[in-house]
Amino acid sequence: MTRTQVFAPGRVNLIGDHTDYVGGLALPMAIHLGTTIVFDRSPGRIDLDSDHHGRVELTANNGIFAPSSALKPTWSRFVIAAIELLKVSPENGIVGTVTTTLPIAAGLSSSASLEIALCLALGSEASGIRLAGIARDLEEAATGVPCGMLDQIAIATAQAGKATLIDFATLSVEPIELPPEVLIQIVNSGPRQLENSAYASRRRQCEEAENEIGPLRKATMDDLSGLTNQMVKRRAKHVITENQRVLEFIDALGSHDLRAAGAAMLASHKSLKDDFEVSTPALDQLVETACNTKGVYGARLTGAGFGGCMVALTEPGVELRNAIQIESAQGPTKRMI
Ligand code: GLA
Repeated sequence: MTRTQVFAPGRVNLIGDHTDYVGGLALPMAIHLGTTIVFDRSPGRIDLDSDHHGRVELTANNGIFAPSSALKPTWSRFVIAAIELLKVSPENGIVGTVTTTLPIAAGLSSSASLEIALCLALGSEASGIRLAGIARDLEEAATGVPCGMLDQIAIATAQAGKATLIDFATLSVEPIELPPEVLIQIVNSGPRQLENSAYASRRRQCEEAENEIGPLRKATMDDLSGLTNQMVKRRAKHVITENQRVLEFIDALGSHDLRAAGAAMLASHKSLKDDFEVSTPALDQLVETACNTKGVYGARLTGAGFGGCMVALTEPGVELRNAIQIESAQGPTKRMI
């Protein structure tokens, strides 16, 4: 019997964090690590065994897959959300296995990678921004986190060998060439903690700022004087300066000025630490150590923060402790095997 294999990469965000849900800019890159689902079609049944997260089994009743609260593994909430959002019909039932090479909760979008792989395995024909939109809604339904579209767009629209400039005001993407003479490395500081409520509160604080001074995408540093709440002001300052840094970073890459690119990454980390307050001592330590290492241009936390990975831009041959060297990957694939 022919089996089908879908693969969805994870992503590393090179620069531009906590900008997506306020119409800002980001420069992520899909990576060679990701989620694979190998399956056979099996009408009336969904049976997925995850390598280390347990098995999810559902049968169709009266022509629909009715989610059962008895489903044990936590990752089953992604399957249930996918069934509900995609309105998966019994003919699209599958039996298969789910494996991932991504560290979980490490800021490399293991959940967005799973969401996109599930959408494709469960019969969605969407691609690009539309697929990203479905997967983003799936994330909120499954986890309750009011995330933006960074992770899902980064994965769904990726081109191998390139990073992707995303403009969240228009949902447009532009592939950005990476200089061949750099390495991108990540080091995991440990799993994220308490990110859900803290993430939602950061998002609310940005919205509060926008209620006072208008869209942060258009706001300038002068506009910050219109904000009286000092915490909200710091959050807004991060977003305004981070959007600027995304453009500076891309300019620096374009002119092969890797020192300037590294400086933008470091400034981004400082802003995420001091103004957005999403770093941790472990991440700060990793960034400091990396930046004191010969051949490292710059480093920053990547993703939501509160733990997870640091990303560093380095010369070839630089070996950071516990680092994984990251290759840029293409978007999701689906093929018969
Ligand atoms: C998480 C969210 C994204 C984005 C980043 C921070 O990865 O899922 O939408 O907000 O955090 O940039």
